[in-house]
Amino acid sequence: MSPPDPAEIDRPPAPTTVHLIGAGPGAADLVTVRGWRLLQQADVVVHDALVEGALLAGLDAECIDAGKRAGNHGIGQDAICALLCERARSGQRVVRLKGGDPFVLGRGFEEVLALRAAGVPCEVVPGVSSATAAPLLGGIPLTYRGLADAFAVVSAHPRDDGDLPALPAWHPRLTLIVLMGAATLPVWAAELCRRGWPPDTAVALISWAGWPQQRVYRTTLAAAPAADAPPAPCVAVLGEVAALGLPSPSASAFL
Ligand SMILES: C[S@@+](CC[C@H](N)C(=O)[O-])C[C@H]1O[C@@H](n2cnc3c(N)ncnc32)[C@H](O)[C@@H]1O
Repeated sequence: MSPPDPAEIDRPPAPTTVHLIGAGPGAADLVTVRGWRLLQQADVVVHDALVEGALLAGLDAECIDAGKRAGNHGIGQDAICALLCERARSGQRVVRLKGGDPFVLGRGFEEVLALRAAGVPCEVVPGVSSATAAPLLGGIPLTYRGLADAFAVVSAHPRDDGDLPALPAWHPRLTLIVLMGAATLPVWAAELCRRGWPPDTAVALISWAGWPQQRVYRTTLAAAPAADAPPAPCVAVLGEVAALGLPSPSASAFL
């Protein structure tokens, strides 16, 4: 048998694959089966703030909260990537658990690129996005024959230059879904009016969708800015379908 190559002995082991998993919008059982299996096998889980505790509760893994909350920016994007790389290089099975779907307004793709640049393999597992799940959980269809045949999802979080992201012009059969809009509701409501959305456009605000404290608030575009801001996290639905909705026990609050 030939002696081992010294270069092979000194070479650090290849990093494990980091799994970037979408946790879904709230209730722990809205994670995918694939995501759940990977969570069961994980040594370490680095998770966001909007991840239901029950999803982490029975895991045999170290759970690290990297979440951003109001007034607290969490551990920062660079530090999260450094942590994922360090743990993957040490041979641990690493899960990065993000709220909703990792690629919907969640900086998931930035994390994939950063891991790839660092030479750490990564696989992404889709999640149920709050963009579609919150309206459903609030009893509101995003499309409905004869009323709405398209929907658009936008962020109302100001860009780095302070401006709002682009908002679409009104179309009678378009449903608009606004994420990250609880704090900036008066600003984006005014901008939508400038873009031709009628003041009497129906608005439904689904707060904490899928969580025990879920509430659905109903208003109009003109009235929404004067009302108290619904508790974040919140998804706003605008358009004809927002006036529909199944009566649900959680749809108990009306503006
Ligand atoms: C940074 S974005 C991440 C979205 C996430 N990737 C997704 O697919 O749901 C966070 C925003 O998602 C929305 N959101 C997430 N979970 C929610 C929930 N359970 N109920 C209502 N809105 C939610 C809110 O608009 C919140 O400000």
